[in-house]
Amino acid sequence: MKIVFFSAKPYDRRFFENQNEEFGFELVFVNVNLSKETVLLAKGAAGVCAFVNDELDSDILTELSKGGTRFVQLRCAGFNNVDLKAAARLGLRVGRVPEYSPYAVAEHALALILGLNRKVHRAYNRVRDGNFALDGLMGFDLRGTIVGVVGTGKIGRVFVGIMKGLGCEVLAYDPYPNPECERLGARYVELDELYRSSRIVSLHCPLTPESFHMVDAESIGTMRDDVMIINTSRGALVDTQALIAGLKSRKIGHVGLDVYEEEADLFFEDLSSEIIHDDVFARLMTFPNVLITGHQAFFTQEAMLRIAQTSLENLKGFAAGESCANELFS
Ligand code: NAI
Repeated sequence: MKIVFFSAKPYDRRFFENQNEEFGFELVFVNVNLSKETVLLAKGAAGVCAFVNDELDSDILTELSKGGTRFVQLRCAGFNNVDLKAAARLGLRVGRVPEYSPYAVAEHALALILGLNRKVHRAYNRVRDGNFALDGLMGFDLRGTIVGVVGTGKIGRVFVGIMKGLGCEVLAYDPYPNPECERLGARYVELDELYRSSRIVSLHCPLTPESFHMVDAESIGTMRDDVMIINTSRGALVDTQALIAGLKSRKIGHVGLDVYEEEADLFFEDLSSEIIHDDVFARLMTFPNVLITGHQAFFTQEAMLRIAQTSLENLKGFAAGESCANELFS
């Protein structure tokens, strides 16, 4: 069975080719995003393997189906980029990797918090420049700090454990509270109380119509002064313009982002010799108290191995007509 991989990077190829020795699929890797312009590259392939910024709307799914594709495998957990209703109408089976390493993402959220709090990004540059002054580098003890965790599923739960381990007080919000988080010592509260009380707000919920721009001018207005906002989930959970306004007014003390609402035009590519046309992103990059990484929270060896294994297992099950625990339904 032929599988075309969109947005494929050398590391995808390495992990998938290694794992494929067990499966024997014909793998074709293309280093372009799946879009109206590129969908023809999948013609004749029964399977398509897509990533977070590939477009899987109704038109593209229709083109895939016309070209003979029957299975779409997402090599990620989030699936906000797929029109599942259209997939069901077309008889396309869609799989994902619901869990590969919640540790990878939760630990990256911690990396952003520690980096921002202790200004590691700034200290690194100063020391390289022979500047050993400490002005502007003061942080705060995490022990005793109130951390608000929005979304306490697989990643949020691990994050709660990490922050409790550091001696933080953890408030949590999730429409479906997780008893494990309560056992770890998190206290569930309403979202407005979490926003009002937390020194650090970290987002670990999926992007849905309800969670779109959940951090906006209004919610930022209710947060503590000097709040630190961390988003390792999906860019559009946060209204970036509101974030910039909050940073300019100094309402927000720190921002750590691994995702950005317009990231599809930027992330995963080397644009270091290009002109960045996204003025909002460019403005965000000017703040000394903003730390941005390019959607790398998932990127550990363990996670890549699980992603490759689970994706190929899902496709094998689909090809054999079996039911699949990781299948998405509309
Ligand atoms: P999960 O499905 O295990 O947990 C998500 C939790 O969010 C659930 O408990 C759910 O009840 C809760 N939730 C849903 N809507 C909510 C809302 N409006 N407010 C508060 N909570 C809400 O998902 P998991 O594995 O923990 O992943 C969380 C998110 O992390 C994913 O949806 C994905 O967007 C993101 N992610 C980011 C990665 C990265 O590399 N930056 C990698 C993997 C996931």
